[in-house]
Amino acid sequence: IKVGVLISGTGTNLQALIDTTMNPTYHMGAEIVLVISNKPDVEGLRRAERAQIPTKVLKHKNYSSREEFDEAMHAELIKAGVEIVCLAGFMRILSGTFTQKWKGKLINVHPALLPSFKGTHAQKQALEAGVKISGCSVHFVEEDVDAGAIITQEAVPIHVDDTVEILTERIKTAEHRAYPRALQLLATGKVRLSNDKLVWTNI
Ligand code: GRF
Repeated sequence: IKVGVLISGTGTNLQALIDTTMNPTYHMGAEIVLVISNKPDVEGLRRAERAQIPTKVLKHKNYSSREEFDEAMHAELIKAGVEIVCLAGFMRILSGTFTQKWKGKLINVHPALLPSFKGTHAQKQALEAGVKISGCSVHFVEEDVDAGAIITQEAVPIHVDDTVEILTERIKTAEHRAYPRALQLLATGKVRLSNDKLVWTNI
């Protein structure tokens, strides 16, 4: 299955997806055919280039509305034959039109155990709440931010002397395992979205 990845930055999750999809021992059933960034010159683009994956920079500022920007992204994804879209540190909110078009085919990784700590600064929210466990969630994307059905999660401990930076790094190592696992489940048809719920299939 052909996958497109949307990024805005460093792209360590993109790297995890590149490494696992390109390594036949993982049996991912997925191939990344396009990486789109809304920011130029980010490390994530260089990661894709090193792996010889086509890249495209679409600067959101060049479009007069969110809908127009999303439509341009959609056109690029369709042109590349993309069937599943992975958000990997993509820092733009997607329009309802876009999320509707890709419903059940659009997934994201969030640095908290949803439904706790939605939105930005999830790691800071977890530290301020004083929880002792946090983690990451890979979920289907709905128009409401961080709201779709959860495909997989992985927990990490929070230690007394943790800072946002330390916790962010610990969660990222979990993300790099969880995101490929979730993509594999979707790409191989083991899970799908039905009536906004996660359904497991016996194939
Ligand atoms: C990750 O923490 C992810 O959960 C969040 O954005 C960050 C992206 O990091 N959505 P990277 O660019 O993959 O390193």
